[in-house]
Amino acid sequence: MSRKSYLPPLAFDRLTPFYDCVLSGILRERQWKDAFVRQVAPMAGERILDLGCGTGTLTIQMKKAAPEAEVLGLDPDSAALERACGKAAEAGAAVLFHEGIADKPPATPEFGEGSFDKVTSSLMLHHLSHEVKRRTFLRVRALLRSGGTFHVVDWGPAATTFHRVVFLGTRLLDGFEPTRDNVSGRLPAMIGAAGFDDVEETRHQNTIAGTLRFYKAVRRGDCVLSSSK
Ligand SMILES: C[S@@+](CC[C@H](N)C(=O)[O-])C[C@H]1O[C@@H](n2cnc3c(N)ncnc32)[C@H](O)[C@@H]1O
Repeated sequence: MSRKSYLPPLAFDRLTPFYDCVLSGILRERQWKDAFVRQVAPMAGERILDLGCGTGTLTIQMKKAAPEAEVLGLDPDSAALERACGKAAEAGAAVLFHEGIADKPPATPEFGEGSFDKVTSSLMLHHLSHEVKRRTFLRVRALLRSGGTFHVVDWGPAATTFHRVVFLGTRLLDGFEPTRDNVSGRLPAMIGAAGFDDVEETRHQNTIAGTLRFYKAVRRGDCVLSSSK
């Protein structure tokens, strides 16, 4: 996978070994990832896809919350996935990690249309350009079964001036274009435009690097009008 086709976990490959330390030490991921897993509420028998799973912390947490669920992680970054596999093995969590991108997942039966109950995305969307976000939301909708849910936690509009200022650090690192829809609060409208229903912000959490917003959306069935005429 070419370096230019996606943005790695901390923008530069050489920073990937520090990703987990930054997330746990600086972003206090435990606090908000626990809340996010409660929102997703993984259940036995469900198929759950974690898009842009990176080093797999959330993917593993979801599997541990529901060992009888089938949990898959997808990410283009092989170095992050290697770490994810090591962490899953250590935790005894049977998670399946795949290399690939969100708007074009592998064309295999595992990623069949309508084959997932839930799709999650944690801190991935701000790595995608506007156009790739748009294509990703359409793909997520296609991957979900009718009634399936899409759960997002990502940078959003800052709750205070302080959080707007500190978020400039992430914008400088990850880019102004990919982060623009996030800070402008456009993610819910974009998710709705991809055909999701009941798009809602469920909570927000301020961190030392900015404000995280949690969203949930439902994929309703396609409406087919039948006529006897
Ligand atoms: C900031 S990390 C988040 C990792 C993990 N979800 C978490 O919450 O810690 C962003 C991840 O998105 C991945 N990514 C970037 N572009 C992507 C794309 N087009 N499709 C899927 N994942 C992508 C990166 O490789 C990286 O692992």
